[in-house]
Amino acid sequence: MLVLGIETSCDDTGVALYHSDRGLLAHALYSQAALHAEYGGVVPELASRDHIRRVLPLTRTILKQAGSAVTDLDAIAYTAGPGLAGALLVGASVAHGMAYALGVPALGIHHLEGHLLAPLMEQSAPQFPFVALLVSGGHTQLMRVARVGEYELLGETLDDAAGEAFDKTAQLLGLGYPGGPAIAQLAERGRPGRITLPRPMLHSHDFDFSFSGLKTAVLTQVKGRGLDAQARADVAAEFQAAIVDVLVAKSLAALKREGLAQLVVAGGVGANRALRARFMQAAAEKGLQVFFPALEFCTDNGVMIAYAAALRMQGPGFRIEDAGKNDFSVRPRWPLSELGRVSA
Ligand code: KG4
Ligand code: ZN
Repeated sequence: MLVLGIETSCDDTGVALYHSDRGLLAHALYSQAALHAEYGGVVPELASRDHIRRVLPLTRTILKQAGSAVTDLDAIAYTAGPGLAGALLVGASVAHGMAYALGVPALGIHHLEGHLLAPLMEQSAPQFPFVALLVSGGHTQLMRVARVGEYELLGETLDDAAGEAFDKTAQLLGLGYPGGPAIAQLAERGRPGRITLPRPMLHSHDFDFSFSGLKTAVLTQVKGRGLDAQARADVAAEFQAAIVDVLVAKSLAALKREGLAQLVVAGGVGANRALRARFMQAAAEKGLQVFFPALEFCTDNGVMIAYAAALRMQGPGFRIEDAGKNDFSVRPRWPLSELGRVSA
């Protein structure tokens, strides 16, 4: 079964061809980062318009790379939410238009389910059940994953997402957008502990997070103090250390409470090397296993959407005639725990 995946939920246009037997055949990604950079964040209308320009040319490119024809497609998957409404609608309309023309199903996929299942594509993949830490620009959640489609929310951020905290703090430090990679790079030259930042909710005895106070603490350090390059690097390093401390501690506590030994770390912030290193170290010390998607599939991409659709379609009880029958409305807000199991 050959699935085309289309991701347009935010500022990356991602497309991919995933074959249920042959694996990933081709994929392409166009990042709009440069388009939004001068505004310091994503401008939704610009994002939608750019997705319109990119989706079809990128799709033609990957079909050619894979040596496939559009008529070889068995299904078209797209991100149906959560995300920017206009941006989501681009992927949804292209997917449904193509699916209608080809007489194949269109499947609306939950963006976070895509992130969450991406590590299953790796050679060394987790087995169900596992705990997943989803850390992206819009979400910070700990979930218990029983199987495809069965996600129980254990805790989440009460305010800013981890990625959002990176992005906002990067702005305070005069770095560009997206802020995560910029802070991570600056932090390499910094000395954590030179200044002190809080570890919000570290001892809250639950699995919730809060990152907006951390950003305010950075603001207090930065405000009116013309920091030199080294001092800015020190702030970046301490900020990153604070986020990593909280994410690691809460994830380990969630594993312990659930009696599980496998953790999946997914979403854009999962690309952070310091975070990966700390998780690997903790796993080695505690006899746990941590799984990440390949670095290039941590941030938004079409591969995870095609893959999640392929898994759903192979699930027990999935009936192809039920897919895509629903409308093509998108869900800018969509709790992952509302997703159903793979059944008709
Ligand atoms: O998953 P993603 O690509 O998009 C969303 O679904 O939100 O995540 C994007 C977020 C941004 O906030 C970005 O700053 C952050 O992931 N990010 C990072 C790194 N790479 C991307 N944060 C920390 N360190 C990184 N290396
Ligand atoms: Zn994402």
